[in-house]
Amino acid sequence: MTETGKKVALITGITGQSGSYLAELLLSKGYQVNGIIRRSSSFNTARIEHIYQDPHEKDYRFRLWYGDLSDSGVLLKLLSQIQPDEVYNLGAQSHVKVSFEIPEYTADIDAIGTLRLLEAIRYLKSSCKFYQASSSEMFGSSPPPQNEKTQFAPRSPYAASKVFAHHTTVNYREAYGIFACSGILMNHESPRRGETFVTRKITHAIAKILNKKQEKIYLGNLDAKRDWGYAPDFVEGMWMMLQQPQADDYILATGEMHSVREFLEEAFKLVDLDWKNYVETDPRYFRPTDVDELRGDSSKAKAKFGWQPKVKFKDLVRLMVIEDLKLAGLDPSKYGLEARHPLTATFLKDLP
Ligand SMILES: NC(=O)c1ccc[n+]([C@@H]2O[C@H](COP(=O)([O-])OP(=O)(O)OC[C@H]3O[C@@H](n4cnc5c(N)ncnc54)[C@H](OP(=O)(O)O)[C@@H]3O)[C@@H](O)[C@H]2O)c1
Repeated sequence: MTETGKKVALITGITGQSGSYLAELLLSKGYQVNGIIRRSSSFNTARIEHIYQDPHEKDYRFRLWYGDLSDSGVLLKLLSQIQPDEVYNLGAQSHVKVSFEIPEYTADIDAIGTLRLLEAIRYLKSSCKFYQASSSEMFGSSPPPQNEKTQFAPRSPYAASKVFAHHTTVNYREAYGIFACSGILMNHESPRRGETFVTRKITHAIAKILNKKQEKIYLGNLDAKRDWGYAPDFVEGMWMMLQQPQADDYILATGEMHSVREFLEEAFKLVDLDWKNYVETDPRYFRPTDVDELRGDSSKAKAKFGWQPKVKFKDLVRLMVIEDLKLAGLDPSKYGLEARHPLTATFLKDLP
């Protein structure tokens, strides 16, 4: 808590899709938000530039600190300096296909990075609450619907690393009484999704195709089925988990499942194009072992704290297409899409 009574949050992965929405949500709730960013030779803060604040201001509400999940010393230093009430561990090498190419790095950041953070919390005897960004990829080949009791059967270095981080979170809760929650989240997307993830790759390509800057889009497995939700809905669920009287693990999901092919159909239809004329499969994008079907059952989160997703598949596709058209300088109303989709409004409207 700050001297002026603000709750203090620390977010790893604040420059990412979910980290940026979570920062907005917490600011709208009056938190002081601290984020760990990696040193990079070019700026990687595009998603949070609109909430940046001059670090010289007293009683600041938003500050960025250099750090890395590979560096125990800096995690220890930042935790003891910032004294957070809540820590959200969203930092990760989060790309499943890339995890096959850099497995050791993925495990170092996603698995051991989580251990480093929890160990620093334990060592400092911090009373902060801890959120771990676990993933539905951990279920791997376990058939849907997946809930908190479903067996993990990871099919990638990313998923195996997240399983380690999940069990470590549960163990630190049981062994040391740390208020540590693992949120097992099905895929969540948004206009801020990285451009190499399949949903955004598609909506980004549509805008380029319309602008005649791209002719084809190359994808991997079109039959993979996922439970796609909207990232702002999901970050609200992360925060809700930490407000409960007891730490626990929860699935967040829409409960709907759609294939990549269906995403293509829905997205291209919105701009009156037939996806089959533009899409080619490229074996390079197939994973050595893939996950066929993910569909989550989030009834525990609904029963315990009333969490429910507001945005489902069709609205999600639509808002992502609209935002990519606008980014490319195209007018969505030309395609009968509203120029400003109400669902794209973020927590910004509530910011102090
Ligand atoms: N989105 C989903 O569908 C989904 C589903 C389940 C779980 N998750 C998990 O939820 C978290 C957030 O997902 P997201 O979609 O927001 O991912 P994202 O957009 O890829 O963001 C990942 C974040 O982690 C940071 N990061 C990467 N390596 C790091 C390191 N060595 N040290 C510190 N930070 C590092 C990145 O920083 P840079 O900007 O510097 O790269 C970025 O801020 C991730 O842990 C992801 O695995 C995501």
